[in-house]
Amino acid sequence: MIKKIFTWLDERLGLTTIYNTILDRKVPEVNWWFTLGSASLFLFLIQGATGVILSVYYVPSPDRAYDSIQYIMNEVMFGWLIRGIHHWGSSLMVIVVFLHMLRVFFYGAYKYPREFTWVTGVVLLLATLGSGFTGYLLPWNQKAYWATTVGTEIAGTVPLIGDFIVRVLRGGSDLSAVTLARFFSVHIWWLPVVLGGIIGIHLYMIIRLGISAVPDKED
Ligand code: HEM
Repeated sequence: MIKKIFTWLDERLGLTTIYNTILDRKVPEVNWWFTLGSASLFLFLIQGATGVILSVYYVPSPDRAYDSIQYIMNEVMFGWLIRGIHHWGSSLMVIVVFLHMLRVFFYGAYKYPREFTWVTGVVLLLATLGSGFTGYLLPWNQKAYWATTVGTEIAGTVPLIGDFIVRVLRGGSDLSAVTLARFFSVHIWWLPVVLGGIIGIHLYMIIRLGISAVPDKED
């Protein structure tokens, strides 16, 4: 019965072809360093799932943000666990994405024909760092407030356009409700959409070109 349903769907949707193209590809003999890309993808999905759950209770306003996090930690069932995974997952994702980039660099996997895969990777690294930066403000505690004050201050040291960058980031001259709303929007909409879209292109390139092999002495 299940086989019949599968055959019916397969004839119409081409499931076997999709499976063969995406999951049944030939790969060269590689090592554990080659798992870091998939680990980055896994962490992105975990961050997405836990973030969606947190957004049910989190309130992005200066007078409610801190209390809503306390509520998540102390009152919501498994709230502490979901927040813990999201909190530590963000640091882990930065580390894993960075190690993945180092693997690609030291194995020379960015060379022809994978230059574009590398370029999309650079955007992914920046978006990952941006997610960490914008997420850090959301608990709206002392650490978050001052870390973002310093972080945006540093961005302000860019010659000529520094002042402008600070104003865009903060939505004014100081950190305020506008900054929190801005960071929240970028954290839950803009950057996840960029990450999701660019990861799609990144994976398309990997499926199209295949994985590079471990370079030998000749390379
Ligand atoms: C959210 C971040 C990222 C995700 C989810 C991701 C995902 C992946 C996956 C699943 C692979 C194939 C397996 C592997 O080689 O590990 C891969 C390969 C690759 N990635 Fe990433 N990646 C990310 C960030 C980056 C960054 C920051 C760079 C470089 C700046 C980069 C450049 C590449 C390149 C050039 C390849 C091809 C490697 C080869 O063929 O040997 N990626 N990526």
